[in-house]
Amino acid sequence: MPYKSREKSKIIPNKPTEDQPQEKSKKTPQLLRGMKDILPEDQHYWDFISRRVDATAKTFGFGRIVTPVLEETSLFVRSVGKETDIIEKEMYTLDDKHGSSISLRPEGTAGVVRAYIEHGMLNRPQPVKMFYYGPFFRHDRPQAGRYRQFHQFGFEIIGDKHPVLDAQMLMMTYVFYQEIGLPISLQVNSVGHPECREDYKKVLVDYYKKRKNSLCEDCKNRLQKNPLRLLDCKESDCQVLMQDAPQTVDYLCEECNEHFVSVLEHLDGLEVPYVLNPRLVRGLDYYSNTAFEIWPEVYNPVEEDKDEDEENKEDKDGENANEETEKNIEPVKPSSQSALGGGGRYDYLVEELGGQPAPAIGFAGGIERLINEIKMRHIDIGQPTPPDIFVAQLGDEARKKILKLFSELRKSGFQIAESFSKNGLKPQMEMANKLGVKFTIILGQKELIDGTLLIRDMESGLQETVDYDTIKDELKKRLANHGVRKNSRSTNRSSDNLS
Ligand code: HAM
Repeated sequence: MPYKSREKSKIIPNKPTEDQPQEKSKKTPQLLRGMKDILPEDQHYWDFISRRVDATAKTFGFGRIVTPVLEETSLFVRSVGKETDIIEKEMYTLDDKHGSSISLRPEGTAGVVRAYIEHGMLNRPQPVKMFYYGPFFRHDRPQAGRYRQFHQFGFEIIGDKHPVLDAQMLMMTYVFYQEIGLPISLQVNSVGHPECREDYKKVLVDYYKKRKNSLCEDCKNRLQKNPLRLLDCKESDCQVLMQDAPQTVDYLCEECNEHFVSVLEHLDGLEVPYVLNPRLVRGLDYYSNTAFEIWPEVYNPVEEDKDEDEENKEDKDGENANEETEKNIEPVKPSSQSALGGGGRYDYLVEELGGQPAPAIGFAGGIERLINEIKMRHIDIGQPTPPDIFVAQLGDEARKKILKLFSELRKSGFQIAESFSKNGLKPQMEMANKLGVKFTIILGQKELIDGTLLIRDMESGLQETVDYDTIKDELKKRLANHGVRKNSRSTNRSSDNLS
């Protein structure tokens, strides 16, 4: 049935009419800066990551949660912290039609905690383990590995403060990257609980006050408002000062110290390697005790592409911010700025958002950064499997019949490709070859009259005529033989190697 618009006035004609001259200056809409399209050819990376996240979450007993992309602004202000960069500068905030302030989520933990409280999850057996993935939004300056819409996967354990859970979360995170085959380092620290952190803040402020003139403008502000953020500054001068800044672990109270020691002992017992990083702080305010990040190991690309790499260094103007080639991933010294992921304990957040006290720990990893690393290091994630069969037709009558056959074969579970709109056999065979299918079925004039089909083995080039009605059985048989042939070839190859 032809499509009929219910609102005729809303139809926008493709071509300008006489009384509607074309605007010469009409610009083609562009992708927003810092956003990117994920094209079909990249989809297998995304499928791979979601399969790995699902598999890891399942083996550790996590259930998937999906929370909305839009939430009340106050949820993020109260959790991430109103003096953080994320809230002060990076959140996409708007008023809804009733004048309430709503924001695109800049991170996932706040929404999960809101859902934990709202759905009374405290009454379930504790701790509750949940995982998620999806898009997040931060209006930061785009550069390689930093986008305004990006994707994270995350794991949260809510409702228990035992240090063994910290160790479990760290191990889970570590094995996730290890099983993908990425060389990473697990950076661990403890930022203590709010009271012992106050002592630390005092010495930190003293240290930086003496060096105030060397601080960037943002850090001068942070010194007043949120001194812990001084350790998280992206400016190089401030990073130099950071080297000699006091360390959080020296100011932990006894309880926090015991907790941290116990986490590290568990990690040692699990033989999970980690780097103690006493100046690691996180860019969100809700953390207490264990804080950790996953940093990629330094990667040195081959010298030959050096000149071109230079051109693709950090995009100061943002002009190339959406380009995603292997070459614009520069060899950076790992740091919080290039972290693949981060997390930690947030024992007070559930309470802070109005729930009963429920200590928690979690982690989130950036998916774009992970895919960049996988590509840059040529990590084998397997190739998408091509369809098994291509159906080709010659002439209009054959086209009708092949369309029907396609539909029947698809229903029976065959993976089929086609090029229905093409007429000649040559372009169709070219496409079948390019796709790497195992067999092509050809329906021409002769086969139409005879009630047959041609099956072409794409590897050997052999063609055979078969009865139209037996095609499913023929294909099943041939696909099974094809599998055996392939296996026996690879067995022969490995025995060749052994002899
Ligand atoms: P986060 O450190 O802000 O933590 O983000 C985690 C990861 O998301 C980063 O390490 C990075 O890989 C990725 N990421 C962040 N911003 C961007 C961006 N603009 N472009 C591309 N990737 C980005 C959190 O979000 C916490 N909610 C983690 C957590 C979960 N803590 C406890 N549970």
